[in-house]
Amino acid sequence: MSSPQPFRRSPETFDKLYRGEPTFEGAPPPTGIPWDIHQAQPRLMELEALGGISGEVLDIGCGLGDNSIYFASRGHSVTGLDGSPAAIEKPVVERRRGVSVTFAVADATKLTGYNGRFDTVIDSALYHCLDEEGQQA
Ligand SMILES: C[S@@+](CC[C@H](N)C(=O)[O-])C[C@H]1O[C@@H](n2cnc3c(N)ncnc32)[C@H](O)[C@@H]1O
Repeated sequence: MSSPQPFRRSPETFDKLYRGEPTFEGAPPPTGIPWDIHQAQPRLMELEALGGISGEVLDIGCGLGDNSIYFASRGHSVTGLDGSPAAIEKPVVERRRGVSVTFAVADATKLTGYNGRFDTVIDSALYHCLDEEGQQA
């Protein structure tokens, strides 16, 4: 019997998950996005209320963008970047409620073109997804 394949947290794996496709051979299609709580993370909302968010904000590994959208709704200028095109394309329009956020696809370990652009950087559950080399980058 072959051993089970590990869940690889590559950008491609995330993209499959957001597309509702099996993340490895033989897996059932995902029934949802495990970390999607349909709103911003309460701890980040607290941080914002305490004045911890200022200037140009980067939400790196933004996923479906609820944290970005929340900060923008509070008057911040926010860029949400994610390695998964499906996450960025996903029409969570109803959650955006007309707030303006810049969303784009980018690799957090490279961030080509974004150097020196941000004053506050939010990481909500991205760092642990990266391998050691990615975390260093
Ligand atoms: C656990 S999810 C968290 C999503 C979101 N921040 C939240 O709090 O709901 C991790 C996110 O990081 C993204 N990600 C993983 N590796 C990445 C990389 N190298 N560059 C950019 N995004 C990455 C995934 O596509 C996924 O959306």
